[in-house]
Amino acid sequence: MLALVNTPNGPTPIALREIAEPSPAHDDAVVQVHAFSLNRGELSSFARNKEGWVPGQDIAGVVLRQAASGKGPPTGTRVVALVDDFGWAERAAVPSHRMAVLPDGVSFAEAATLPVAGLTALRTLRHGGALVGRRVLITGAAGGVGTLAIQIAARSGAHVTAVVGRPERAAGLKELGATEVVEGVDSAQGRFALILESAGGGSLARAIQLVEPKGTIVVYGNSSAEPTTLAFADFRGAPNARIQTFSYFTSEAEERFGPDLALLVSLIADGSLKPRIGMERNWRDLLEVGDQLRGRGINGKAVFHTDNP
Ligand SMILES: NC(=O)c1ccc[n+]([C@@H]2O[C@H](COP(=O)([O-])OP(=O)(O)OC[C@H]3O[C@@H](n4cnc5c(N)ncnc54)[C@H](OP(=O)(O)O)[C@@H]3O)[C@@H](O)[C@H]2O)c1
Repeated sequence: MLALVNTPNGPTPIALREIAEPSPAHDDAVVQVHAFSLNRGELSSFARNKEGWVPGQDIAGVVLRQAASGKGPPTGTRVVALVDDFGWAERAAVPSHRMAVLPDGVSFAEAATLPVAGLTALRTLRHGGALVGRRVLITGAAGGVGTLAIQIAARSGAHVTAVVGRPERAAGLKELGATEVVEGVDSAQGRFALILESAGGGSLARAIQLVEPKGTIVVYGNSSAEPTTLAFADFRGAPNARIQTFSYFTSEAEERFGPDLALLVSLIADGSLKPRIGMERNWRDLLEVGDQLRGRGINGKAVFHTDNP
């Protein structure tokens, strides 16, 4: 079968190549992959991994063979799934508890936006507790996680302030549910009960000035790659505020992946979550689109289709 294989020593960092079929464990289904999405973190994973490794965490497709254990959706079911890697392939082995069934109205492309970015949006927001009437600040709001987090926060009753880097990045964010959109985190006013912070550097330093007393800053990324200097005194205006780090793979119990994916799918199905697909292409275009994602040029998620019909 074909897969996008890591080729750190080749002319390009990844290349479409023939590899062996997946060998599923007892609890793994084999899924025919129709669509997958790209995450910023995956772009930096190429150099860290060996020749022959296959990236890819967010997949949507059809169960080709149910897990031998009998667990998980039966053969023929349309699903979305989260895998550790080896997702950018025509077929993938998927743990039966890391999948959710797709209703007919949810496309493979929409579903493929959900695993890493959707789970991150959902679970970082949970750190704010009940959000009804609370102010939530989201940095990197025009990106993959941000565009999903705006919608889930707004649906939960929050007043959302979305931070973008350039004026053109603001397009459509109010329609997703943002109460206001500001250009640069320095333009945000007042204090916030919950801040989702993924830019790092000065953005995280500013977040400390913007959090409420007893409020929460969820630190889940460092897109700027800049460090942040902080001191206890910075929290003078926000006593007992909390900085919460977040990692989607370990943030909640392993068996919660399926139910949380199913929850996200249900939000798409009922019309309250509309994944923003900024780019939808054939998987042969991944490196080109990856450059645009790295350059902050994709509004929402980049989604790719394999050659599976
Ligand atoms: N901890 C976890 O479990 C977890 C899970 C998912 C993602 N992440 C991380 O969270 C971050 C957001 O993920 P994502 O998928 O939403 O990424 P994304 O789609 O690339 O969006 C990130 C956005 O951050 C903004 N940004 C602000 N300063 C930036 C800078 N100096 N360099 C690059 N972008 C900057 C950009 O929007 P503007 O140009 O409008 O400012 C960019 O679009 C990434 O760093 C990712 O690696 C972590």
